[in-house]
Amino acid sequence: MKKKLLFVSLLAAATMMVSATVSMASPVVIKFSHVVAENTPKGQMAVKFKELIDERLAGKVEVEVFPNSQLFGDNKVIEAMLLGDVQLAAPSLSKFNKYTDSLQIFDLPFLFKDMDAVEKFQKGAKGQELLMSMKNKGLIGLGYLHNGLKQLSASDKLVVPADAAKKKFRIMSSDVLEAQFHAIDAMPLKKPFSEVFTLLQTKAIDGQENTWSNIYSKKFYEVQPYITESNHGVLDYLVITSTEFWMGLPSDLRGEIKQALDEAIAFGNKVADEKSVSDRQQIIDSKRSEIVTLTDAQRELWVESMKPVWKKFEKEIGKEYIDAAIASNK
Ligand code: LMR
Repeated sequence: MKKKLLFVSLLAAATMMVSATVSMASPVVIKFSHVVAENTPKGQMAVKFKELIDERLAGKVEVEVFPNSQLFGDNKVIEAMLLGDVQLAAPSLSKFNKYTDSLQIFDLPFLFKDMDAVEKFQKGAKGQELLMSMKNKGLIGLGYLHNGLKQLSASDKLVVPADAAKKKFRIMSSDVLEAQFHAIDAMPLKKPFSEVFTLLQTKAIDGQENTWSNIYSKKFYEVQPYITESNHGVLDYLVITSTEFWMGLPSDLRGEIKQALDEAIAFGNKVADEKSVSDRQQIIDSKRSEIVTLTDAQRELWVESMKPVWKKFEKEIGKEYIDAAIASNK
């Protein structure tokens, strides 16, 4: 009898220990690393994601957001993700050159006529297919996030492509963007986002291409007297995670995290819409930088010079993707 009692109490103690361990199990930590300021579409989307997770999954999931290249700059974040040092990131679509050819489609100059066309393509079958274009590299695309159309900022006034000849432009790590600047006889330099302001300020480079929100939030307009409103390309993001991390999550948790992420992306897209107007206006109001508006004929010269890049990359990217993107303009 005594033995039986001892056995029962040992069993009870063991059960209590197990349940204590379960309830004390540490939450899943999601480190979200990005390179832009908090007052940008991506910065705001990350904050919203954290808020939603805190509200709904407190104790189970913890989100830590690292803006402004605090944790990893854009050259390092994908490698860090594959090593398990960061679980979520949203690099610009121009930064996946090393991992897939097809995503280069988003860099083709003058491919999308506006952000509605970008949205239509991303939501369509071909755009959705591209989310998984790096699966064999251990990366999953969880969704697209908008920033907006790119403008050209420079130390001199750029009205026609010849004005950019021989000038140095910082670009993201994309071969298409490199070809785009070569097409106008300019000198592109692949540099991380965190270095752009200093490169411009010290005049180590003459210009760069970016969206209104990045030009505003990183103060590029304070060191670039001219911004040509060219809308020549798109700067959007792919929210990525590693297959290992994502598939290792319990499926119910994975579903809840994805739901919060979708909502945060929808919120970030709204911020992107607003900022493409308000940050442009802030720059105008600052009077630090003159906005150069192109006539249709001047814009056509940029299109004519840059568009041959499409053909050059057609095979690598896949004609069917380019055709689908063109169709999204209708
Ligand atoms: C850039 O490097 O210019 C952008 O990709 C930065 C960003 O993430 O918006």
